[in-house]
Amino acid sequence: MTIGLLDRFGRRATDLRVSLTDRCNLRCSYCMPAEGLPWLPKAEMLSDAEIIRLITVAVERLGVTEVRFTGGEPLLRPGLTEIVAAAASLRPRPHLALTTNGIGLDRLADGLAAAGLDRVNVSIDTLRADRFAQITHRDRHAAVLAGIVGAAEAGLTPVKLNAVLLRGINEDEAPELLRFAVAHGYELRFIEQMPLDAQHGWSREQMITADEIQASLAGQFDLTPDPSPRAGAPAETFLVDGGPAKVGIIASVTRPFCGDCDRTRLTADGQIRNCLFATEESDLRSAVRGGADDAELAERWRRAMWLKRAGHGIDNPDFLQPARGMSAIGG
Ligand code: GTP
Ligand code: 5AD
Ligand code: SF4
Repeated sequence: MTIGLLDRFGRRATDLRVSLTDRCNLRCSYCMPAEGLPWLPKAEMLSDAEIIRLITVAVERLGVTEVRFTGGEPLLRPGLTEIVAAAASLRPRPHLALTTNGIGLDRLADGLAAAGLDRVNVSIDTLRADRFAQITHRDRHAAVLAGIVGAAEAGLTPVKLNAVLLRGINEDEAPELLRFAVAHGYELRFIEQMPLDAQHGWSREQMITADEIQASLAGQFDLTPDPSPRAGAPAETFLVDGGPAKVGIIASVTRPFCGDCDRTRLTADGQIRNCLFATEESDLRSAVRGGADDAELAERWRRAMWLKRAGHGIDNPDFLQPARGMSAIGG
């Protein structure tokens, strides 16, 4: 029997998030500064073969059943399709998903689906090109919309859309975004802004809360709690006007779900993070490059997860934002 990734609080991590690169072609203000960041040097990044090996250890020895590829922007990784195909060939076959900003997805979606990718989540905070440029510092709104259509046409479904609302910029757009998603059959989720921007500029007052999001939708939609089980998902979902359409709210700050967390993370430079908000990482890259066998890698991974904290502690007076931001952690 597999000895899984257990922690001291009885949680078991079965969902692996693999960051394939810290680079991105957008500059979302809640994530990184307009001038970008000092990217990881190539030599520090795991090779495709190293990533595939670690995913194999996670699936075959640690009970991981779901693998999500993240970034930065994972579509920028040249070997993405090969990595997906290798993951899809594992037994038991893990469920494979990708979180992307959508740029280039119209071109890549068919190949990814053929390689074995099951579904995608695409970030889109606004339906207005001018606001998109204001938030992301890039004029690529049409490319994102094309990517969403390409994903749906390739069968990477359900296509989920992620939106972060920002005070004074797109906070009035929740109903419009939801109407768009429902009309096209996408599952929209609103995400509370988290203190994970590289600039450390997050403030509680600027964050649009889950309560505010629900209030802004309530006038135009009838939202009822989704009866299907939430399992370890960050999103609390609601049926829109009785269903089958759904909308999700990921309220990491005001309604933390740490008690049900089922995630483990691998960064592009081979560090295990036992929590999105962990302030320490466990170095698997040196073990891989130092000749550790699969059993030893699995044991190191188990030890890293055992030490996972009970929760993110954003409300604690001594809360420390992790040194690395969202784009380097993988969301
Ligand atoms: P599915 O619901 O399985 O489609 O995926 P997901 O919502 O977990 O993945 P996605 O990458 O789309 O993430 C959406 C938001 O949830 C992002 O802002 C993530 O940072 C956030 N998120 C993902 N995992 C965690 C977690 O373990 N803790 C917290 N607090 N937020 C998370
Ligand atoms: N807070 C909340 N969500 C964020 N994302 C990126 N940075 C933050 C943040 N500071 C979102 C992206 C993407 C997902 C992976 O995380 O918009 O949808
Ligand atoms: Fe890129 Fe995602 Fe960060 Fe936006 S949130 S800059 S799309 S990594």
